[in-house]
Amino acid sequence: MNTPAPDTHFAPRHILGIEGLSSGEITCLLDAADGFVALNRGRQKKSNSLQGLTLINLFFEDSTRTRTSFELAGKRLGADVINMSVATSSIHKGESLIDTAMTLNAMHPDVLVVRHPHSGAVQLLSQKVTCAVINGGDGSHEHPTQALLDALTIRRRKGTIGGLVVTICGDIAHSRVARSNIHLLNTMGARVRLVGPPTLIPPMIERMGVEVFHDMKKGLEGADIVMMLRLQLERMHGTFVPSLRENFHFYGLDADKLAAAKPDALVMHPGPINRGVEIDTSVADDIDRSVITEQVEMGVAVRMACLEAVTGTAATTPAAKPKRKKKARS
Ligand code: CP
Repeated sequence: MNTPAPDTHFAPRHILGIEGLSSGEITCLLDAADGFVALNRGRQKKSNSLQGLTLINLFFEDSTRTRTSFELAGKRLGADVINMSVATSSIHKGESLIDTAMTLNAMHPDVLVVRHPHSGAVQLLSQKVTCAVINGGDGSHEHPTQALLDALTIRRRKGTIGGLVVTICGDIAHSRVARSNIHLLNTMGARVRLVGPPTLIPPMIERMGVEVFHDMKKGLEGADIVMMLRLQLERMHGTFVPSLRENFHFYGLDADKLAAAKPDALVMHPGPINRGVEIDTSVADDIDRSVITEQVEMGVAVRMACLEAVTGTAATTPAAKPKRKKKARS
């Protein structure tokens, strides 16, 4: 019997979530992204692997990092990049998400990057179009490229992801970043802890293979990575914390609470940060501990790797190679 080859390639045409990706697929994307870091740091940042291809950014929610870095990633790879302005589109004349997607699809884009406030909307859209779709964040469901850029930041700093203790703190309940990171970190063999008030930790989340803490210092004890999350007020219907000041007192990261983590623990945050709400300025700006701006830098490299992967233009993706026909069994 043949032993199956190790799964070290990235095969899916869409990137809709981290859930379901194998460690080999994640490693393949991280390796490819790592290769783009040096290119992005150089003066000449252009490659032409996506020359002739078209990328459309379709963001139904605000974004600074994700939209800009997908635009940069596409342009650096030589693609034509269109940023759809949802605010001035025909969506305001009653056109639905699906009709909008099918309209754009008729113009033959190669990749649609979509952010939408509803969980599952990007997956639904991907079933209605013929191009590749990358999820730029859907509701509180998944934000796959954020988890990949977080993983690349961690791997470059710590050399590995497996075996690390990663503590994710804050509004877990409304966070697509938390969900994608939990899937990725578990798949790559890290130990994941969650810290937050009971109102912001979903019930039964332990089933995802995480430990839950409501006391921040206990959750941070011995952590290698401290990942802070903002309160996602735009997704909250009702009051989840008594006050922002109280939230900071119990769950805001400052030097005193950070002292519970390992002395070389890294401080991460997907952004946008709210100083004095979930993180103190002295920690956010500590150049020895905080890698927040490095996460942004890795975002461009990761999105370049993802664009190449879904278009089959990466040297290592199977889609880039001619497909061999399976022999019929006699
Ligand atoms: N981390 C993140 O998704 O940031 P933006 O909302 O600015 O894209």
